[in-house]
Amino acid sequence: MARLQARFVCQQCGAVYPKWTGRCDGCGAWNSLIEEVARETPPSGGKRTRDRRTERSLGFVGLTGPSILPPRRGTGIAELDRVCGGGLVAGSAILVGGDPGIGKSTLLLQAAAAIAPPIGNSPGEPKARPAMAAYITGEEAIDQVRIRAERIGVTTSPMLLAAASNVEDIVASLDREDSPDLVVIDSIQTMYLETLDSAPGTVSQVRAAAQELIRLAKRRGFVLVLVGHVTKEGVIAGPRVLEHMVDTVLYFEGERGHQFRILRAVKNRFGATDEIGVFEMSDRGLVEVPNPSAMFLAARPSPGPHEIGAVDDQEAGASTGPIHGSAVFAGMEGTRPVLVEVQALVAPAFLGTPRRAVVGWDGTRLAMITAVLDARCGMSVGANDIYLNVAGGLRIGEPAADLAVAAALVSALTETPVPIDTVVFGEIALSGEVRPVGHTDARLKEAAKLGFAEAWMPIRRGKRREEAAATGIATDSIGHLKELVERLARARSPLGSPSRQRRIGVAS
Ligand code: TYD
Ligand code: MG
Repeated sequence: MARLQARFVCQQCGAVYPKWTGRCDGCGAWNSLIEEVARETPPSGGKRTRDRRTERSLGFVGLTGPSILPPRRGTGIAELDRVCGGGLVAGSAILVGGDPGIGKSTLLLQAAAAIAPPIGNSPGEPKARPAMAAYITGEEAIDQVRIRAERIGVTTSPMLLAAASNVEDIVASLDREDSPDLVVIDSIQTMYLETLDSAPGTVSQVRAAAQELIRLAKRRGFVLVLVGHVTKEGVIAGPRVLEHMVDTVLYFEGERGHQFRILRAVKNRFGATDEIGVFEMSDRGLVEVPNPSAMFLAARPSPGPHEIGAVDDQEAGASTGPIHGSAVFAGMEGTRPVLVEVQALVAPAFLGTPRRAVVGWDGTRLAMITAVLDARCGMSVGANDIYLNVAGGLRIGEPAADLAVAAALVSALTETPVPIDTVVFGEIALSGEVRPVGHTDARLKEAAKLGFAEAWMPIRRGKRREEAAATGIATDSIGHLKELVERLARARSPLGSPSRQRRIGVAS
């Protein structure tokens, strides 16, 4: 008979321990281990190794040969399709993770309601039957989903709705010739298999339930979307334990208090990662934001046709006044350029170690840039408290933001605004050199589209220089971080006192 053996499984990362400990060595989470009972199965194949007759040899093939691209299906939500690499792939499994309350159920209800016939169905082909979607909720009652459907205005959609959490039941109902084309499971943490002893939401249940559903999706060729809540405490398993099993992993992110929601691909077997989709949560569901740059910069005075310089803004009675410590970064998110504002506040540190608070960027890279500013440009940024924020709730991962961060820091320290119509980008080396980055033209074009007139960027030579000029933006090449400091000193507003200039050591 199978022996029952206790083991402790981290609900964040799935690491298994024979004994309970307070902290998981695998992922560093505290108090995330819970006891799960595993049936020890006798090692299979022990007897069979000798029995050659039951073994089948593999049919190896070469790399070239006929291969059929799996059909993709548009959801009617362009931002979602983009993140998935141009539509949902039939027979694939997609995991949508995110904090509770971020809008996962809303997004998927909208997608299920809007699902369209397969892309590329040429007019000559016999008309496929209308696409069908099924939404299975294990979290909410039917009434709650209906109320949401009414709120987002999709009640006329013919989609199928069910409240269930028993995976065997779900598989039995979907394992048919005419299975739906899209199946949404909201959420995988509420699903359970009767054959397992563990409670729903534990790592073993979540994994086994997902495995079962994914196998069915592959067999029947429907798109399976699993919703997974990101959990802070280890009571239920996080979506991370499923990442290796699915084809695509999307995270739905956003700051509480911000309307913006960002859907980010972190793994995609059928497309590029680091593509983002931007949404806004309205009172009638999620609305796509096709031009995120305009949204992220909405709170800034527009770079528009007025003259450079903060003083003009003051004269014009603009409420914002000069913006010290702010630089607009021309970034790339996947294939799309996105402009965001980087804000820095530099204040004298009074006690002990200076404080660092970074939102939306990497703290280690900030430390590197302050060190380069201090060591290569003779400034004293590092001794101050530094607060850095990427406006709008976006997270930047690109090293190309280095120069924008440096510009915001120097601008904050010297109380010199970066000209309002200027975008900044470039990677900073430890020597202080500014290194070129990719997609320069896309960045410049986006900046031009939003009314910016100048770019502080790495040096470009020859033909590439002419290309940059063609975008209609004046490019100001910065080869070394020192040049950025000088550039800002030149742009200094008349309000900056000479004593301040002497103190920070950049006065000529
Ligand atoms: P929900 O999709 O339930 O989040 P999740 O499934 O990720 O837990 O979204 C819940 C939040 O969204 C809730 O705070 C209310 C808000 N919301 C709106 O602001 N407008 C809407 O039209 C809907 C449907 C939800
Ligand atoms: Mg939900």
